[in-house]
Amino acid sequence: MASSRLLQLHNYTTHGSAGASLPHRAARVALSSLLLQTSLSLHPLSSLHYHSHCYCSSRDVHVAEVAEKRSNKVHLSSPELVALEYADLNLSYKLDLGHVRIRQHVNPLSSSFSVPTQPPDWNQVFSDPTLPLMADIGCGSGRLLLWLAKQNPGVTNYLGLEIRQKLVKRAEVWVKDLALNNIYFLFANATISFKHLVTSYPGPLMFVSILCPDPHFKKRHHKRRLLQKPLVGAIVETLMPGGQVLIQSDVVEVALDMRNQFDEVEALLHMDAVNPSMLCDSEGWLLSNPMGIRTEREIHAELEGQRIFRRMYQKKQM
Ligand SMILES: C[S@@+](CC[C@H](N)C(=O)[O-])C[C@H]1O[C@@H](n2cnc3c(N)ncnc32)[C@H](O)[C@@H]1O
Repeated sequence: MASSRLLQLHNYTTHGSAGASLPHRAARVALSSLLLQTSLSLHPLSSLHYHSHCYCSSRDVHVAEVAEKRSNKVHLSSPELVALEYADLNLSYKLDLGHVRIRQHVNPLSSSFSVPTQPPDWNQVFSDPTLPLMADIGCGSGRLLLWLAKQNPGVTNYLGLEIRQKLVKRAEVWVKDLALNNIYFLFANATISFKHLVTSYPGPLMFVSILCPDPHFKKRHHKRRLLQKPLVGAIVETLMPGGQVLIQSDVVEVALDMRNQFDEVEALLHMDAVNPSMLCDSEGWLLSNPMGIRTEREIHAELEGQRIFRRMYQKKQM
């Protein structure tokens, strides 16, 4: 189980085999569906009802109590489901960071986010800065990367880019608690800082994820969306040949916006063309989550009965 989760993911997606990871993944999927069975409350969610919520919550959650509630078939809230999904990490929820709950979307175009983030000294932040890198853009709480980093020490480095400083601060505490040396979180407006940051990284960029970015529904706010043309260009340019990009959203309009931008890139193939075992529905959305674990937004959306729209691409070999 200590072997590389991302390499397993890569093998799974490229060769159709997850190797030793499959039982673990199956167990996780089974756990997820069990959690959903006991907690799912289906009600339609229109764009008007979309709200930021639990992924920012730092309220105290006791995993043992949550597990007991689940076994008694008591309805679980999003933060409780998230705590259960990430129970392996044993994270402390009693951090002295003030109240971390954030309801509003930030405006990345405001002047306070217009200064590009300077790259760190990679030798200081990773024990081996030549390892392949996964970058999660708009990583929220960072739990997904923490979970992956714990699975893949000495194999892959993980970089989380997040525009809300408090979330970065909390993630940094968790990195320290878990004593991980293959993960780093940066407070950054990824739209303007991504390229500069990843081109300074000494190793190859192997994987980029943009998972459930803020929707900014109003047309006049679309320019606040995380994925803009220059960022698409920067991702494609900096990705290693064979490197992969995963996009997903619980808002079909946002998923389509991202998809349209990546589908038209010549240098990328959609994964179902690379690996036919990666099944899609008739509209080309991937049928399952290739990461082996759900993000916080994903857990919340599924609890609300929403579907997750996903696409995954691979950069052509030169
Ligand atoms: C809806 S949350 C999703 C978080 C996580 N990916 C998940 O799926 O649970 C979107 C995240 O993107 C962050 N974000 C939005 N614009 C950003 C930007 N320009 N640069 C970096 N992060 C950004 C937000 O602060 C928020 O934490």
